[in-house]
Amino acid sequence: MTYDFETDAASIKDNLDCALIGSTVLLLPEVDSTNKLVKEYLENGAEEGLVAIAETQTAGRGRFGRTWHSPAEKGIYLSVLLKPRLTPNHLSRLTLMAGVATVSTLNEFTRQRATLKWPNDILINGKKACGLLCEYSQAPDGTTGIIIGVGININHLPEQFPEELRGTSTSLLIENGLPVKRLSLIRSLLNHLDQEYQAYLTDGGKETLRKWTLNTDLFEKQVIITCGSNITRGVALRLDDSGRLIVRTEGGDEKAFDSGEVTLRTK
Ligand code: BTN
Repeated sequence: MTYDFETDAASIKDNLDCALIGSTVLLLPEVDSTNKLVKEYLENGAEEGLVAIAETQTAGRGRFGRTWHSPAEKGIYLSVLLKPRLTPNHLSRLTLMAGVATVSTLNEFTRQRATLKWPNDILINGKKACGLLCEYSQAPDGTTGIIIGVGININHLPEQFPEELRGTSTSLLIENGLPVKRLSLIRSLLNHLDQEYQAYLTDGGKETLRKWTLNTDLFEKQVIITCGSNITRGVALRLDDSGRLIVRTEGGDEKAFDSGEVTLRTK
């Protein structure tokens, strides 16, 4: 079922329990990318907490210039504008913050456990159900913002994924056997994001890192990290205080990886 755009935007906004997120809620039939749209709003002076949700995206963006498959009536494609008074080096930790909020939400809606895969994927039964793309942006007037983009596969059937994604992607419907009401999940996600963000502003991310660690299966697993043409094999150990992944390499030393530049595979 598609959204009832005007009514549903109002009903999302009016039923939030948020201090900040959801100050404006835009619900649109089609955009190129909700991240790009929110960036344009930032450039035009939008206030913190603005949320843009699209029924479908024609050029949904993923990490490393990939596209995010965004079919109508199947997924949630949503971006939130934050304007923390923090330096850009908080971007990785804010990505982890968004991951914690999203995994907590998904675990309210699925019987199968959703887990975080560093830096910004959410898996169910080893397949990707959600991706996060957090971007730092500066408007021409110097105003800075962080755009948190969340794409969640909700009501896709296996054959509704492009062939190249079928082996690696899943949806809540596939995992649960039941469709999920997107509006309920959106409300819950925005509430969780608001809570985690308030906590982040208070403690600089300590609680985020603790919760992130509780919601991952990555540690003690063999990983392969690719950074440009460099490939590192080793065992994922923990996150450090900045949210970098610490890996014990095959040579036995510990190396820290920043989320910006790397992709990670588990063996
Ligand atoms: C990834 O796993 O590579 C990140 C995917 C992020 C997709 C979301 S969908 C909503 C928002 N708008 C975009 O263009 N991208 C993000």
